[in-house]
Amino acid sequence: MDNLQQLDKNNIWHPFTSLGSEDLPILIEKADGIYLHTSDGRKIMDAISSWWVNLHGHSHPVIAKAIAEQAQTLEHVIFAGFTHRPAIQLSKNILSILPNNQTKIFFSDNGSTAVEVALKIAFQFWHNQGVNNKQKVIAIRGAYHGDTFGSMSVGERGSFTAAFIPYLFDVVYIDFPTENNEGTILNQFKALIKNNDVGAFIFEPLVQGAAGMRIYTAGILDTLIHEAHKHDVICIADEVFTGFGRTGKMFASDYLSNQPDIISISKGITGGTMPLGVTSCSKKIISAYLSRDDDKTFFHGHSYTANPLACAAANASFELLTNESCQKQIKSIESQHLNFRNKIKAMELVQDIRCLGTILAVELKTNEKTSYFNEVRKKVYPFFLARNILLRPLGNVIYIVPPYVIQAHELDHIYTCIEEFLLETKK
Ligand SMILES: Cc1ncc(COP(=O)(O)O)c(C=O)c1O
Repeated sequence: MDNLQQLDKNNIWHPFTSLGSEDLPILIEKADGIYLHTSDGRKIMDAISSWWVNLHGHSHPVIAKAIAEQAQTLEHVIFAGFTHRPAIQLSKNILSILPNNQTKIFFSDNGSTAVEVALKIAFQFWHNQGVNNKQKVIAIRGAYHGDTFGSMSVGERGSFTAAFIPYLFDVVYIDFPTENNEGTILNQFKALIKNNDVGAFIFEPLVQGAAGMRIYTAGILDTLIHEAHKHDVICIADEVFTGFGRTGKMFASDYLSNQPDIISISKGITGGTMPLGVTSCSKKIISAYLSRDDDKTFFHGHSYTANPLACAAANASFELLTNESCQKQIKSIESQHLNFRNKIKAMELVQDIRCLGTILAVELKTNEKTSYFNEVRKKVYPFFLARNILLRPLGNVIYIVPPYVIQAHELDHIYTCIEEFLLETKK
């Protein structure tokens, strides 16, 4: 087993992992429900849905069966000029749960590409109409939209993007909305859009995930979208993380009365089994592309666009997600989170505790500022792994985003370990 891990170390370059690190990756042999089984016989509770993707538990038999059957029927077909039943079914499924102004979907492979596609569709929307004075883009400070060049461009500039800054396009940022600055943000935003030269506004609705599960109100976002629409700014909701029930509603946009023009989704779409990204658009966006003119075609695509196995997995996941029992689970996770929040909010080490839907985040008070690189993360990760819980903190923010099948006693166990950590750890 050690040999395998060493072989991995020799051969494989893992994401977000320092090549200088001495650590060997943990070898997972199989997984079921919320548990990952390691090669040395440990059973680790997956409290973060394996990078926020898993909704119904690992190796879910319904999704596994759908993929297996699809693999024996049609594994892939070029998606230009051809189509297939799983993609058509998925389009129906997805459009039935997205905000009702969304009318068409475009497939890609992951969250970053779903965002990349959204940006390209928005930029070409203006281009197709001969508008060349709406090239400014607004994003929110702290944003993370992925790791491709477009998605990096609209994200926060920082350590993740330092090497690429000369190659990223310019974006203007508004501050992250908090309880105290909503008026200022609105004024900042109005000043930025008043000259009608802003083409797009992109945001993670209600929750900035990678920034530390930072939550802001639907009220301010609604107002910003309303203002944006008055000045013909295309609003792009990056629901890659927040989609498919994460925030307690199907999409975070469901908390809004003003609907985004474009929505990017991925992560939970296949229940965490197959890579898939989707970008949906309103009728208004589509109208700029309804032409036989080649110049107005959206020339974008990936080899695996709308892969039938991924679509079949997504359709199976959709059935599970829209089932009443899953929706009940989401509600009960939320109420357990809220109880836990009340229980620990006054603890010494707790700077802030945030909760929305199935997301719970505990920001730890430390001597350093809140950031992804806060040193406390080096204590958190091993502390929980030693207790067979996978919690991958964002710096000094410990968060839980569990698969929806997690049971009450399993969540309680995670809470108990968090409390233990808070009691044991000195500032
Ligand atoms: C809001 C948001 N957008 C985009 C992405 C990028 O998704 P992917 O990692 O699938 O490229 C992420 C990933 O964490 C995300 O949280």
